[in-house]
Amino acid sequence: MSTFNPRIVGFVCRWCSSAGADLAGTSRVKYPPNITLVKVMCSGRVDAQHVMQAFRSGADGVLVSGCHPGDCHYIKGNYSMLRRYHLLKRMLKQMGIEEGRLRLEWISATEADKLKEVVEQMVETIRGLGPLKPAREKAHAKV
Ligand code: FES
Repeated sequence: MSTFNPRIVGFVCRWCSSAGADLAGTSRVKYPPNITLVKVMCSGRVDAQHVMQAFRSGADGVLVSGCHPGDCHYIKGNYSMLRRYHLLKRMLKQMGIEEGRLRLEWISATEADKLKEVVEQMVETIRGLGPLKPAREKAHAKV
Protein backbone atom coordinates (compact mmCIF):
# COMPACT_ATOMS: atom_id res chain seq x y z
CA MET A 1 0.00 0.00 0.00
CA SER A 2 1.26 3.46 -0.95
CA THR A 3 2.24 5.82 1.83
CA PHE A 4 1.93 8.80 -0.49
CA ASN A 5 -0.41 11.37 1.04
CA PRO A 6 -1.87 13.51 -1.76
CA ARG A 7 -2.50 17.19 -1.29
CA ILE A 8 -5.81 18.31 -2.74
CA VAL A 9 -7.17 21.81 -3.11
CA GLY A 10 -10.96 22.02 -3.11
CA PHE A 11 -12.67 25.12 -4.47
CA VAL A 12 -16.15 25.03 -2.91
CA CYS A 13 -18.96 27.44 -3.61
CA ARG A 14 -20.10 29.45 -0.64
CA TRP A 15 -23.78 28.60 -0.94
CA CYS A 16 -23.85 24.82 -1.34
CA SER A 17 -20.61 22.87 -1.16
CA SER A 18 -19.01 24.97 1.55
CA ALA A 19 -22.19 24.60 3.60
CA GLY A 20 -22.00 20.84 2.94
CA ALA A 21 -18.46 20.86 4.35
CA ASP A 22 -19.70 22.81 7.38
CA LEU A 23 -22.43 20.21 7.86
CA ALA A 24 -19.79 17.47 7.70
CA GLY A 25 -18.00 19.29 10.51
CA THR A 26 -21.03 19.79 12.71
CA SER A 27 -22.29 16.24 12.03
CA ARG A 28 -18.87 14.74 12.70
CA VAL A 29 -18.72 13.19 9.24
CA LYS A 30 -15.02 12.55 8.91
CA TYR A 31 -13.31 12.94 5.58
CA PRO A 32 -9.60 12.66 4.81
CA PRO A 33 -7.54 15.66 5.93
CA ASN A 34 -5.77 15.69 2.55
CA ILE A 35 -8.03 18.41 1.23
CA THR A 36 -7.72 22.14 1.81
CA LEU A 37 -10.97 23.91 1.09
CA VAL A 38 -11.03 27.33 -0.55
CA LYS A 39 -14.40 29.04 -0.35
CA VAL A 40 -15.47 30.90 -3.49
CA MET A 41 -18.75 32.67 -4.11
CA CYS A 42 -19.67 30.36 -7.00
CA SER A 43 -18.07 27.45 -8.85
CA GLY A 44 -18.37 29.63 -11.95
CA ARG A 45 -15.81 31.94 -10.39
CA VAL A 46 -13.09 29.29 -10.61
CA ASP A 47 -11.08 29.76 -13.77
CA ALA A 48 -8.09 28.05 -15.36
CA GLN A 49 -5.63 30.25 -13.52
CA HIS A 50 -6.98 29.20 -10.12
CA VAL A 51 -6.67 25.54 -11.03
CA MET A 52 -3.17 25.89 -12.51
CA GLN A 53 -2.02 28.00 -9.57
CA ALA A 54 -3.17 25.24 -7.21
CA PHE A 55 -1.11 22.69 -9.16
CA ARG A 56 1.87 25.05 -9.30
CA SER A 57 1.64 25.57 -5.54
CA GLY A 58 1.93 21.89 -4.74
CA ALA A 59 -1.51 20.36 -5.14
CA ASP A 60 -1.59 16.82 -6.50
CA GLY A 61 -5.28 17.18 -7.25
CA VAL A 62 -7.96 19.84 -7.51
CA LEU A 63 -11.65 19.54 -6.74
CA VAL A 64 -14.15 22.13 -7.87
CA SER A 65 -17.53 21.77 -6.25
CA GLY A 66 -20.69 23.78 -6.61
CA CYS A 67 -24.46 23.71 -6.40
CA HIS A 68 -26.44 21.13 -8.35
CA PRO A 69 -27.61 22.17 -11.83
CA GLY A 70 -30.53 24.54 -11.45
CA ASP A 71 -29.53 25.52 -7.90
CA CYS A 72 -26.70 27.98 -8.59
CA HIS A 73 -27.32 31.20 -6.70
CA TYR A 74 -25.97 33.11 -9.69
CA ILE A 75 -28.31 31.24 -12.06
CA LYS A 76 -25.78 29.59 -14.37
CA GLY A 77 -22.34 29.85 -12.78
CA ASN A 78 -22.12 26.08 -12.40
CA TYR A 79 -22.97 25.60 -16.09
CA SER A 80 -20.10 27.94 -16.96
CA MET A 81 -17.84 25.86 -14.74
CA LEU A 82 -19.00 22.66 -16.40
CA ARG A 83 -18.00 24.01 -19.83
CA ARG A 84 -14.67 25.26 -18.43
CA TYR A 85 -14.08 21.90 -16.76
CA HIS A 86 -14.14 20.06 -20.09
CA LEU A 87 -11.70 22.57 -21.55
CA LEU A 88 -9.46 22.29 -18.50
CA LYS A 89 -9.39 18.51 -18.76
CA ARG A 90 -8.21 18.80 -22.36
CA MET A 91 -5.64 21.39 -21.41
CA LEU A 92 -4.25 19.24 -18.59
CA LYS A 93 -4.01 16.27 -20.91
CA GLN A 94 -2.01 18.31 -23.40
CA MET A 95 0.32 19.33 -20.57
CA GLY A 96 0.88 15.72 -19.58
CA ILE A 97 -1.10 16.07 -16.35
CA GLU A 98 -3.49 13.20 -15.77
CA GLU A 99 -7.13 14.23 -16.14
CA GLY A 100 -7.98 12.35 -12.94
CA ARG A 101 -6.26 15.03 -10.93
CA LEU A 102 -9.12 17.42 -11.59
CA ARG A 103 -12.68 16.68 -10.56
CA LEU A 104 -15.93 18.62 -10.68
CA GLU A 105 -18.79 17.66 -8.38
CA TRP A 106 -22.14 19.09 -7.40
CA ILE A 107 -22.49 18.92 -3.62
CA SER A 108 -25.39 20.58 -1.84
CA ALA A 109 -25.53 22.00 1.67
CA THR A 110 -27.14 18.75 2.89
CA GLU A 111 -24.67 16.36 1.26
CA ALA A 112 -21.93 16.01 3.85
CA ASP A 113 -21.76 12.29 3.08
CA LYS A 114 -21.24 12.98 -0.60
CA LEU A 115 -18.39 15.33 0.20
CA LYS A 116 -16.78 12.62 2.29
CA GLU A 117 -17.24 10.07 -0.48
CA VAL A 118 -15.80 12.38 -3.16
CA VAL A 119 -12.76 13.30 -1.08
CA GLU A 120 -12.10 9.65 -0.23
CA GLN A 121 -12.35 8.68 -3.89
CA MET A 122 -10.06 11.51 -4.94
CA VAL A 123 -7.43 10.56 -2.37
CA GLU A 124 -7.46 6.98 -3.65
CA THR A 125 -7.36 8.02 -7.31
CA ILE A 126 -4.50 10.44 -6.81
CA ARG A 127 -2.65 8.04 -4.56
CA GLY A 128 -2.76 5.65 -7.50
CA LEU A 129 -1.44 8.34 -9.86
CA GLY A 130 1.37 9.30 -7.51
CA PRO A 131 2.74 12.77 -6.80
CA LEU A 132 2.34 15.40 -9.48
CA LYS A 133 5.99 16.39 -9.15
CA PRO A 134 7.25 14.96 -12.46
CA ALA A 135 4.59 16.85 -14.34
CA ARG A 136 4.63 19.94 -12.13
CA GLU A 137 6.98 21.83 -14.43
CA LYS A 138 4.33 21.55 -17.12
CA ALA A 139 1.84 23.33 -14.89
CA HIS A 140 4.22 26.29 -14.86
CA ALA A 141 3.39 26.97 -18.48
CA LYS A 142 1.45 30.20 -18.94
CA VAL A 143 -2.32 29.86 -19.12
FE1 FES B 1 -22.97 27.45 -6.00
FE2 FES B 1 -22.98 28.97 -8.24
S1 FES B 1 -23.53 29.56 -6.26
S2 FES B 1 -22.31 26.94 -7.99
